[in-house]
Amino acid sequence: MYDYLMTLDFRGKRVLIVGCGFGEDALRIAMLGAEVYAFDLSPECLNIARQLAAREGIRVHFAQMPAEELSYDDNFFDYVVAPNILHHVDIPLAIREINRVAKSGAMLIVDEIYSHTFTKFNTKVQTSRMPVSKGAKIHIWQAKSLHHC
Ligand SMILES: C[S@@+](CC[C@H](N)C(=O)[O-])C[C@H]1O[C@@H](n2cnc3c(N)ncnc32)[C@H](O)[C@@H]1O
Repeated sequence: MYDYLMTLDFRGKRVLIVGCGFGEDALRIAMLGAEVYAFDLSPECLNIARQLAAREGIRVHFAQMPAEELSYDDNFFDYVVAPNILHHVDIPLAIREINRVAKSGAMLIVDEIYSHTFTKFNTKVQTSRMPVSKGAKIHIWQAKSLHHC
């Protein structure tokens, strides 16, 4: 996923990180020039994420909320990045919300699950269109080892 992210031009783009955890992906993408919004359910994770951002001097809009009920405006994001998170959420509700806050033609990038720990073995398994309206592209990665389960 990271190799792919590095091919994108995030400058001036609004990016949403779903279930940001400690915020590493939010910081990385902010460093690539995006205006990054990142949320998580866990105040403890967000506390660490905010400390990391402050330490690195990087601006990210962190917020606490569930993926199933987002407080962002409709048609707001150019990219939505959801690494290692969909297995935690109510997927139909979360996708409905992601679709609502994504601009028309936005890109959803999904990485399931824990493939960052198997970076060398990651493989892109699917590129498709959002199932609903918007015509956004969805990119999904999985650790190759999962295919053998
Ligand atoms: C496996 S961690 C992944 C964190 C980060 N995306 C990463 O790749 O390192 C899953 C994260 O999802 C958060 N989470 C779980 N359920 C959630 C929900 N319904 N809405 C938002 N975040 C949630 C957890 O607090 C946790 O930080």
